[in-house]
Amino acid sequence: MKSALQKTDPAVYKIIQKEEKRQQETLSMIPSENWFSPSVREAVGSVFSHKYAEGNIGKRYYEGCVHVDELETLAIERAKKVFSLPKNWTANVQALSGSNANLAVYLALLQPGDTILAMYLPDGGHLSHGWSFEPDVEKRDKEVQSGSLVYEGGSRKINISAMLYNPIQYKTSKKTHQFDYKAIAEIAEKYQPKLIITGGTAYPRIINHKKIKAIAKKIHAYYLADIAHEAGLIAGGAFPSPVGIADVVTMTTHKTLKSGRGAIILAHEDIIHKINLAILPGLQGGPHNHNIAGICVGLGEALSPAFKKYAAQIIKNTGDLALELQKQSFKLVTNGTDKHFVLMNLSEEPILGRPFARVLALAGITANYSTMPWDSRPPRNPSALRLGTPWLTTRGMKKNEIKKIAKWIREAMTIASQWADMSFEGMEEEAKQSKDIKRISQEVKDLCKKFLVA
Ligand SMILES: Cc1ncc(COP(=O)(O)O)c(C=O)c1O
Repeated sequence: MKSALQKTDPAVYKIIQKEEKRQQETLSMIPSENWFSPSVREAVGSVFSHKYAEGNIGKRYYEGCVHVDELETLAIERAKKVFSLPKNWTANVQALSGSNANLAVYLALLQPGDTILAMYLPDGGHLSHGWSFEPDVEKRDKEVQSGSLVYEGGSRKINISAMLYNPIQYKTSKKTHQFDYKAIAEIAEKYQPKLIITGGTAYPRIINHKKIKAIAKKIHAYYLADIAHEAGLIAGGAFPSPVGIADVVTMTTHKTLKSGRGAIILAHEDIIHKINLAILPGLQGGPHNHNIAGICVGLGEALSPAFKKYAAQIIKNTGDLALELQKQSFKLVTNGTDKHFVLMNLSEEPILGRPFARVLALAGITANYSTMPWDSRPPRNPSALRLGTPWLTTRGMKKNEIKKIAKWIREAMTIASQWADMSFEGMEEEAKQSKDIKRISQEVKDLCKKFLVA
């Protein structure tokens, strides 16, 4: 029987079908992506998207919010359980995205112009933690060559977090590419930020939240732990949690947590009260109740024993991925990983992150290029590539499959090395025509068909 969409709008229906086929028949190794359960998808597609509900539970600016209240209450109760919140801590589940959640925290706790201290973006931080870019290549090179562990910002403020606040960023150690807590403490003492942030998109190691909280406490700053990437690992008990240590915790819900798109903010109820006001009237209008329904269902799933196994398996799979890539002679930033992705250092390979990501995509392996510590290459053509396992793990893949994938990645690099001197477009054209790349993509497809997801 034809679905409603198939009947009324076959054009959109077809595009959705093609996207589903792409997702099923290729390997997504983008660490921030995942496949949600049919229940999460059903909740996200529910009638809750029809409803306006500005305000908070029991205090809405619209009538007809009885069931929205019921839903949001349940989501918050589940968030408390999943993340083992201390007494008097609660959650806000209304921020539309991780970036908005971070902005809401700033709006609640800071004044415009206040200094915030976060991880340097090219070392794996996030745009929403305060980023201004230096477009002058010479200046940028000089700054990297100086070896300084602090970045005071470039001339182009490209994110609202830098337009409204004064971001200062700490870099990772030049030797280990990991946090240098002593240096962070010195930078904090010198710049006296009102807020210290940890968390990011490409830092593959555990962060010592107690050390950061101690640094923040000494200068009377708030500590925000952004666990956008690790939320699911923490929910499943497979990774250290900042809850009870940091003053505020933000996360996205659509990465390792598999709960549909959105964000959760956790803090003491006094702080959440301010954050609620930062969300409305500060930043947003009506909450996306259908996404809150997805978050609620996802949190329910995160409470199951199966989710614990899932989180542990991600860590295992990524450890195996690191090992297998190293066996294939690839270099990894920090020589390994503690979590759900590895950061490949391709600076000594014939092909760098951006063109290699395109070759891999044509071979059926979706990844994304990334900056890496102490790399002065521009963000549009950096040296590194991020590869994650959350989605593969959702599909049920384990060591045997990971081994095959690492082999395909080396094969793709060997094939692509013959195009190393070409332009990006020239190389892409060659890769599109290549029988060898087509062969890998067929092998990837055959593997994927054995691991289809509902
Ligand atoms: C650490 C971190 N914070 C915030 C965000 C922003 O999330 P969103 O894309 O939902 O705005 C991301 C997204 O990748 C992230 O990795």
